[in-house]
Amino acid sequence: MAFEIRATGRAVPPRRVTNQDLADRVDTTDEWIKSHTGIGARHIADEGIACSDLAFQAAEAALSQLAETNGESAAMLAADLDLIILATTSADYIGVPSTACVLQDKLGARNAAAFDITACCTGLVYALEIAAGLLAMNVHRKRALVIGSELLSRITDWSDRGSCVLFGDGAAAIILEKTDAPREGAGRRGLIQSILHADGSGAQALFVQGGGTRDPFKAGEVLTKQPHLIMDGRIVYNFAVKALTSTIEELLQADGITIDAVRWIIPHQANARIVNAAQKRLGISDDKLYLNIEEYANTSAASIGIALDELNRAHRIAQGDLVMLVGFGAGLTYGGSLIVW
Ligand code: COA
Repeated sequence: MAFEIRATGRAVPPRRVTNQDLADRVDTTDEWIKSHTGIGARHIADEGIACSDLAFQAAEAALSQLAETNGESAAMLAADLDLIILATTSADYIGVPSTACVLQDKLGARNAAAFDITACCTGLVYALEIAAGLLAMNVHRKRALVIGSELLSRITDWSDRGSCVLFGDGAAAIILEKTDAPREGAGRRGLIQSILHADGSGAQALFVQGGGTRDPFKAGEVLTKQPHLIMDGRIVYNFAVKALTSTIEELLQADGITIDAVRWIIPHQANARIVNAAQKRLGISDDKLYLNIEEYANTSAASIGIALDELNRAHRIAQGDLVMLVGFGAGLTYGGSLIVW
């Protein structure tokens, strides 16, 4: 039994905000942002767009891609989905209902179980492993839609130059299918290794202030700021370099391979400096690492999926290629997957 990626999709809002656009509003410069993060722009959703709207566009793109290969209609494929798992930190509602349920209705995926997970920027990696586990558990489940969708612009403190320059909006979708291919040995395919970690002692390094049960809104209270991300950049940076480095090492070790066997490493796109530091420690060549942070900034649970979809649609992943996804982020959470394409 194997768990293969059959299609991918992405959705990015059309409104592109460059570093210079930000510098007109916040005390920053294009030079500072580029040199400290590698970010050149981010895409920001217009008012009225919610997490499920971007998720829907990404899901439609993935379903249409699968429909093209399968010769079925996207609507039929949606109706046939067994599972929808949506990773987000910026849901349509605070907890109730899940954004996955809103998406299920929009897609007409009436046979799919649907729920959200919160594993922040590691969300897509967590969701893929959960999807594979749930497909494995039941003979009747065949196909899962795994989504990372974020409107980080809605939980960004736009007056905090230390964090607001980092984030963007976007969504990505992956269709994971249970097949008869082998998961081990010669001819193995699909998701072959996964590593998931968490270190809750770092929860305060990156969190959303306001609106939860820890700090609920009270009737009559005048809000001076919307709920927003508070980050200790230095702590997160140091954690991220370690998490990215150790996850790559752990995945290689788990599979008994060296970095030479890997075609693509797709890291969470948080900061090009984080990736470059891990790359230097492990001696990874540039041609193995995929970075698109310059265009999208950090889109949290969506970032790895957006990158994967770009590579997939550009036909830059060949059948049999080993692809490594590595996530790290708030929680703190981190982890990765090895996939034979
Ligand atoms: N524009 C201009 N100056 C800025 C700035 C901005 N957008 N943000 C911070 N600065 C200033 C600071 O005020 C500070 O000035 P000071 O020395 O006069 O006090 C100076 O730049 C250095 O700040 P510092 O915080 O030490 O910068 P840094 O090199 O650590 O980079 C981050 C800051 C946020 C880019 C870096 O810590 C980081 O990437 N952390 C991880 C964040 C992340 O990826 N989060 C998501 C994880 S999933």
